[in-house]
Amino acid sequence: MTVQTEIRVAFLPELAGEVSNAVCIVIDALRATTVIATLFERKCPCVYVAPSHALAESFARANGYALCGETNGVRAEGFDYGNSPTEFSRLDFSGRSVVLSTSNGTKATAAVANAKRVYLGSALNRNAVAQEAWETAKAEAADIVIVCSGTNGVFTLEDATVAGLYVEALVALGTTWDMPSLADSAIAARRLWQGEPNLLRGWMEGKHAQHLGDIGFGEDVGFCTAIDNSYTTPTLVSEEAKGTVACPVILVR
Ligand code: MLT
Repeated sequence: MTVQTEIRVAFLPELAGEVSNAVCIVIDALRATTVIATLFERKCPCVYVAPSHALAESFARANGYALCGETNGVRAEGFDYGNSPTEFSRLDFSGRSVVLSTSNGTKATAAVANAKRVYLGSALNRNAVAQEAWETAKAEAADIVIVCSGTNGVFTLEDATVAGLYVEALVALGTTWDMPSLADSAIAARRLWQGEPNLLRGWMEGKHAQHLGDIGFGEDVGFCTAIDNSYTTPTLVSEEAKGTVACPVILVR
């Protein structure tokens, strides 16, 4: 008998609930999870995510990794790079691991690290991540929780609409005899995206996209709205399991 997979959306990490038996997809569309997809596109072998700048700095400096991250959207003091996907898209990270610390995305990842499996998804790699999360959920008889990072504890339009985009992709992966069931939160996210399927137009109504435009990162907002142009599947793993996945993301503790 097939176990029906439920899809839920947590509009903030603190709403994710118990995830130890679930597969999670963490979303920080503007910009952390888009940055992570981009780093793997640029041949980065491994992305370490840190829940604080201090931890990121000591870990990166001790290991000779590139130190990246932002405070209020701009490069954190003393860091090598900020959190701009367009900047990363022009760089080559072959053989160069990155330590990333951001205001929300890396913290959201840490918050659900005890899930059965954690993927980091953006609009860019939506189909690739949805497909892998679906296959893992089927193999593990697990539900899927899409976790929106939000901004400093506040709901954000861009994460919620990308969550809706993922719900749409996951539903498309189901078959007549194996359809996922949708929690109300998943229905709401899907309807939000259906209400304005043009991501850029929808996001520009929101505070975060406007803030990034105001501080000179308007190009990043456009970059993050591209759908399905990356086949990367960033996956949270332990240091020991680094070699077992194509795009390893490791939590610095
Ligand atoms: C975050 O993690 O809060 C974001 O990626 C912030 C940003 O750089 O836009």
